Amino acid sequence: MNRSDLNGRIRRAISWSLLAPGLMWPTMNATSNAQVSVQRSREERFVDSVLARLTLEEKLGQLNQVSGLGNPTGPGGSPASYEQIRRGQIGSFLNVVGADTTRKIQRIAVEESRAHIPLLFALDVIHGYRTTFPVPLGEAASWNPAAAERSARVAATEASANGLHWTFAPMVDIARDPRWGRIVEGAGEDPYLGGSFAAARVRGFQGNSLRSIDAIAATAKHFAGYGAAEGGRDYDIADVPERTMREVYLPPFHAAVCAGVATLMASFNEIAGVPAHANRHLTSEILRGEWKFDGMVVSDWTGVAELLQHGVGGDRAAVGKLALEAGVDMDMVSEIYGKDLPALVRSGRLSQAAVDAAVRRVLRLKYRLGLFDNPYRSWDAARERAMTLTRDNRAAAREVARQTMVLLKNDRGTLPLRKELGTIAVIGSLANDTVATLGNWVGMGRKEDGMSVLDGIKRAVSQQTTVLYAKGASPVSDDTSAIAEAVSVARRAQAVVLVIGEIPDMSAEAASRASIELPGAQLILAQAVQATGVPTVVVLMNGRPLAIQWLHDNVPAILETWFAGIEAGPATADVLFGDYNPGGKLPVTFPRATGQVPIYYAHKNTGRPPQRENKYSSKYIDIPWTPLYPFGHGLSYTTFTISTPRLDKTTLRSSDSLRVEVDVTNSGTVAGDEVVQLYVRDDVASLTRPVKQLRGFQRMTLGPGQSSTVRFVLSNQDLAFYDASMRRVVEPGRFTVFVGSSSDVVKEARFELTTPSARAVPVPERCVAMK
Ligand code: BGC
Repeated sequence: MNRSDLNGRIRRAISWSLLAPGLMWPTMNATSNAQVSVQRSREERFVDSVLARLTLEEKLGQLNQVSGLGNPTGPGGSPASYEQIRRGQIGSFLNVVGADTTRKIQRIAVEESRAHIPLLFALDVIHGYRTTFPVPLGEAASWNPAAAERSARVAATEASANGLHWTFAPMVDIARDPRWGRIVEGAGEDPYLGGSFAAARVRGFQGNSLRSIDAIAATAKHFAGYGAAEGGRDYDIADVPERTMREVYLPPFHAAVCAGVATLMASFNEIAGVPAHANRHLTSEILRGEWKFDGMVVSDWTGVAELLQHGVGGDRAAVGKLALEAGVDMDMVSEIYGKDLPALVRSGRLSQAAVDAAVRRVLRLKYRLGLFDNPYRSWDAARERAMTLTRDNRAAAREVARQTMVLLKNDRGTLPLRKELGTIAVIGSLANDTVATLGNWVGMGRKEDGMSVLDGIKRAVSQQTTVLYAKGASPVSDDTSAIAEAVSVARRAQAVVLVIGEIPDMSAEAASRASIELPGAQLILAQAVQATGVPTVVVLMNGRPLAIQWLHDNVPAILETWFAGIEAGPATADVLFGDYNPGGKLPVTFPRATGQVPIYYAHKNTGRPPQRENKYSSKYIDIPWTPLYPFGHGLSYTTFTISTPRLDKTTLRSSDSLRVEVDVTNSGTVAGDEVVQLYVRDDVASLTRPVKQLRGFQRMTLGPGQSSTVRFVLSNQDLAFYDASMRRVVEPGRFTVFVGSSSDVVKEARFELTTPSARAVPVPERCVAMK
């Protein structure tokens, strides 16, 4: 049977009389409001017509997501069978991939089940499907959301050709505690930067229309407060006050919703006593009520069943009811909705309406993806091969990787290295570890597609250059026995490239660290190599801020490369040898020691701000209070000057916008990138406000001697906060604008905000265009 016959058959079988052929679900900004509402009501009629045909078991089957076929891929999953698909007991799979495989399984659902409803296939496509891009924290260090959008677009193109409809990304959790291993999956500590990257990634995954065969539905996760885990311990409680939730943790989710994200995922943690999987306030009141999100919410892996452990429900049916009524539509792996809720509905303890509301949202997603029209989305093995790991995709991965690298330190122009050096010693187990370069959550990424830093260096140097390698030490062992050999290798070289950091499993889910120092014997190795006196460049590979005070004090150059993906080797060499001038900036503060955590730039001033000469001020007695590297920090092989900001007015009415301009000049001798950053402070308010908040940024390339003017526009959305009664307002008074090259290298200007009757003015939260 060919595809059009099959589509015809599916359509006839369930009389999709309301489905206009070729109907496109529009993106919000591409279509007028009137068109959107016509299409929405068509969609609702269609969804209602499907819903009306389903039995209770089939409805709950739509809410059931299982992992793998035959084989569970995590704790708590049970093997799914074809028979369950035929009986309509499964709405979605995760961890099943491959065009032929998903086509075969999909055929059973649409042809052999009574209701003929297509399945959704999902996977964690976090930073690439097969072409592995840098980890998300690295991408955020590019301060170029377009780079993250490009990476997500490539991932969606590959994933969709490989039989997938849906990714569990982007993770948009704000993380201010680098002990938390999942900090690697997000955009760092700042809600504004996080919102920009959340929106960019959603645009990249979903493209212009979810119906396109190369689009996949995105998931903003984990809703909400997961990054605030107490003690940085994964899965732990998040004791977050409502104001902090709304000002710090929720903005990236709001930005994702504004960008049209199709789904959200609930988080494992509780917030002030209410587990996220049972949190009506978050999911029903804020997400669906205030933000008008009409997409689907999926649980995290066994998140519904874990409500039992949280201790908020006594049995499976009770926790299923709690989750469903809170607004969690799809049950990932717990299999509680499918197995334990039918009896509850029949006995009247759970309303049919609550079930229908969740099923409607699942069907809506399937409709929006065009699955009722084309359940196979043109999957075939030839297209899969043609779309995966293409030359263009690799080129994109290399370009994005170069943009993510942050030059933390570079004394006396140690970097870039000359390609013509006689001998270069490359030292450290990570230098020769291709798996490590890929990072965690690699989708279908493979070691053999990547290139180590060592090989990248060997490929880049001149023919006369000898590249020596010694392991020296590794992040996973305290063994120092190979350090002597590394020292002797270092002594034979004109320069050492010391590659140290973490293995991917150290910055990952369930990978919290009590100490964020260099793991294993790597610091001892660094000290031994530095003692040789041979100029040493440290290349860091890691997925979280590391406390590297000793390196900073003793090594002339440090390059942060994160886990840079499949092109890590060539991209690192590009930067080391000056073929690419690094321009990344830190999306998260690097502390001097673990004991400074949490440390972030947007802190409060306190009544006793730190002062060196004042003992009774907010600081430590054993180390400075300042970070090792502040948020937004990153050097270049050239230098830039940024002028004092010019404001178009110094008195602003609350409804006005403010234009801010600065001149940026490349004052060095080579072309390079600068990220101009704009911060704002509300100097006096009815509540304490952060000392600075990022409200704009722009990455730009300038040739030597070249200047450019950067313009920012601020509105009341940028100045608002939640007052004592949780109203979002702007208050009259003085504000400071800071512009510069990092959160602590800034120049400032002031303005006065006026409001009618000198009162606070409400500023309802609305969608604003993110960069
Ligand atoms: C993680 C999620 C992920 C899910 C499915 C969970 O353990 O918390 O982020 O999407 O597994 O793999």
